Amino acid sequence: MDYTINKLKKHLNETVELKGWVYNIRSIGKVWFMILRDGSGFIQCVVSKQDVDESIFALEESLTQESSVVVHGVVQEDKRSEIGVEILVKNIEVIQIAEEYPISLKEHGTSFLMDNRHLWLRSKKQFAVLRIRHAVIKAIRNYFDNNGFVLIDSPMFTGNAVEGTTTLFETDYFSRSAYLTQSGQLYQEAGALAFGKTYCFGPCFRAEKSKTRKHLTEFWMVEPEMAYFDLNQNMDLIEDFIESIISSVIQECSLELNILERDISKLQNITKPFPRISYDDAVKLLNDNGHEFKYGSDFGAPDEEKIASFYDKPVMIHSWPYETKAFYMKRDNADKLALGVDVIAPEGYGEIVGGGQREDNHDILVKRIKEHGLPLDSFKWYLDLRKFGSVPHSGFGMGLERTVGWICGTDHIRQTIPFPRTMTRLEP
Ligand code: 4AD
Repeated sequence: MDYTINKLKKHLNETVELKGWVYNIRSIGKVWFMILRDGSGFIQCVVSKQDVDESIFALEESLTQESSVVVHGVVQEDKRSEIGVEILVKNIEVIQIAEEYPISLKEHGTSFLMDNRHLWLRSKKQFAVLRIRHAVIKAIRNYFDNNGFVLIDSPMFTGNAVEGTTTLFETDYFSRSAYLTQSGQLYQEAGALAFGKTYCFGPCFRAEKSKTRKHLTEFWMVEPEMAYFDLNQNMDLIEDFIESIISSVIQECSLELNILERDISKLQNITKPFPRISYDDAVKLLNDNGHEFKYGSDFGAPDEEKIASFYDKPVMIHSWPYETKAFYMKRDNADKLALGVDVIAPEGYGEIVGGGQREDNHDILVKRIKEHGLPLDSFKWYLDLRKFGSVPHSGFGMGLERTVGWICGTDHIRQTIPFPRTMTRLEP
């Protein structure tokens, strides 16, 4: 039988074998304690002189941090530990004695840790963040798979600029220009008209030249798109979706949230309905509270933080001046406001969702593409969607890393993805 640390509680008093790595060792004379990690968790292993051969007891001298070992021992209750059990060691098989490990359990600078990201992944906090990322991905897929959505993968190479031309990564594509996708949305619109409700979930690329705590050049986005959905139905779906993700993570990741010392009551509070305010309301809220903001521009990080400070749930800001939004956004009847929605996470984690209702009229869309200075040719296929059975439709994109950052309470987005890519980082 294969035992893993996270499942040991069910095996009280059984003799088990654990395959893992030495995280830490401390000694008090006749007994020494090894924290073992196996990828599923961390456990204290008690090595007592009276229970093991002399050669095993002597391993305390030679085992280094990150040495690989197979431990045999008995599972016993340990009320003080995070997982409620520990191992009384009977035998240790050494697979490799590790060289001196560069990352000790002391504090290190972030730049050093990022240079060693391939090793830093093994640390306890990174373990917790990336397992929560895994749980969030699973919750996202479950939500859409259980609610009638079909997964339609959008391509990574594309001829279309979706979110403006300033952050495009251009690449040579057999003597033509191609871009790495900024968003799979346009392809989901084709999908929604074929399957009703679809989603894609994959990496997106933006040549972000700003060095902020919230921007990566390669990040993951999940993008659902729904035929016959207006802006309000879109917002109903967004809040239901976010509530379901948070509730699965609370259920599945109590150990990880505990390691991160996350205040779970703040997450338990994330239940429907979420506040919905118009852009106009948001601007008024800022200006009435001494935070000067000029009507007509997009909110920056300090503005988002200020708006979020009035709420303890994600806040949905809708109905934006059209100049702030992309060419594909449908406008209100007065032709002034774009029917878009941004969701700002609580506690200062910024915008996690952007979406809206799409322009479904062919001629208006042509006009918008031209107004935005985009080449009509590459949108020929997209315009077809407005010629053959066009319907009102809506969708959104949720950034995975910002969402994971908020759930984990991490101060920088780079910890929420295994190997972050930023303007200055391509390795490891
Ligand atoms: O608001 P955005 O730009 O919306 C779109 O791309 C739409 N086409 C999505 C759609 O409607 N299908 O981006 C959506 C989300 C943001 O709210 C943010 O969470 C994340 O993607 N995001 C980034 N995350 C990390 N680094 C970046 N550089 C990001 N840019 C956007």
